[in-house]
Amino acid sequence: MTMNTDFKAWRVEEQDGSYVGSEQTLSTADLPEGEVLIRVSHSSLNYKDALSASGNKGVTRNFPHTPGIDAAGEVVEDASGNLAPGTAVLVTGFDLGMNTDGGFGEYIRVPAGWCVPMPSGWDARTAMIYGTAGLTAGLCVQKLLTMGAEPAQGPVAVSGASGAVGSVAVELLAKLGFEVVAISGKADHAADLKALGASEVVGRDALTEEKKPMLKPVFGNAIDTVGGTPLAELLKQIKPGGSVSCCGLVAGPQLQTTVLPFILRGVNLLGVDSVEIPLADKQAVWGKFSGEWACPKTEQSARDIGRSELDAALKAFLGGASVGKTVLHHSR
Ligand SMILES: NC(=O)c1ccc[n+]([C@@H]2O[C@H](COP(=O)([O-])OP(=O)(O)OC[C@H]3O[C@@H](n4cnc5c(N)ncnc54)[C@H](OP(=O)(O)O)[C@@H]3O)[C@@H](O)[C@H]2O)c1
Repeated sequence: MTMNTDFKAWRVEEQDGSYVGSEQTLSTADLPEGEVLIRVSHSSLNYKDALSASGNKGVTRNFPHTPGIDAAGEVVEDASGNLAPGTAVLVTGFDLGMNTDGGFGEYIRVPAGWCVPMPSGWDARTAMIYGTAGLTAGLCVQKLLTMGAEPAQGPVAVSGASGAVGSVAVELLAKLGFEVVAISGKADHAADLKALGASEVVGRDALTEEKKPMLKPVFGNAIDTVGGTPLAELLKQIKPGGSVSCCGLVAGPQLQTTVLPFILRGVNLLGVDSVEIPLADKQAVWGKFSGEWACPKTEQSARDIGRSELDAALKAFLGGASVGKTVLHHSR
């Protein structure tokens, strides 16, 4: 057992009914029980972190709490004996940053079964550029491919295209040869989405509620990161035999649809979970992103911040104003 160490963490506390984040000094003795103590150098920002930091009890039940569903760094000690001190690892999902103190602190302690050895060729920052959002985009694409999606079926729509998941999905699909239609509420971001590989950028009004139960089928397949009405409208516009990977709920968790897209056009609605899937499934997608699925434009355009910038960056997620991938550096 190593000695306890003091460290900095961005901690969220409840103050008179509102939730406030600030930098605090903690000790590794304050961390939960677990096998692997990790010195975290980088984390990544996700919509779920913004929910946790704003006191959403569906994500985090008890405060004070350190959010951060993603972390990358070095093993300090591993009681399971599987990971030697100094091993570079990344952790995403499971309970990290939800009810287990997360990557917005310089140390985490987690079960060995949550840790993935760093893919070869990657450093911690690169891993956190992808993070949970990249993993989710990869899983969405993989599900479409499993269903036989191919470019000849027609354009793939990506909703919430400028967001963390959406932007990686746009670049990866384009790289795989698909024509991508980015659906985005940020008209001023259209050029960036085209630079990522979108052939067309349309406004969110393409998916506002329509009374008709079916619409002209224009998309071969789709990746939906927003849920709610936009997902229902997307399902009406998928060509026969096409699929929609669904992973998010920023436009709402409800889905009001008819069965018509499913029974008249054989459309498939594919659920995507990046959190609780087996570690080997996560590792397989990381392996692809560190190889043939590498997204160099996403890597080049990622924004780097320090802990003092977390508050503003997380609030941008809740307002739908966040763009692309943001990496937290504990050394900044
Ligand atoms: N299933 C999983 O395992 C998993 C993993 C990761 C994330 N997620 C979920 O995926 C979703 C996206 O996560 P993220 O980290 O990419 O968030 P994000 O960066 O905030 O991206 C979401 C994007 O959706 C669009 N949007 C925001 N509010 C909207 C609204 N009211 N109606 C329609 N579009 C809206 C915005 O893009 P535009 O301005 O371009 O339209 C926004 O940038 C979240 O719901 C998150 O919880 C799920």
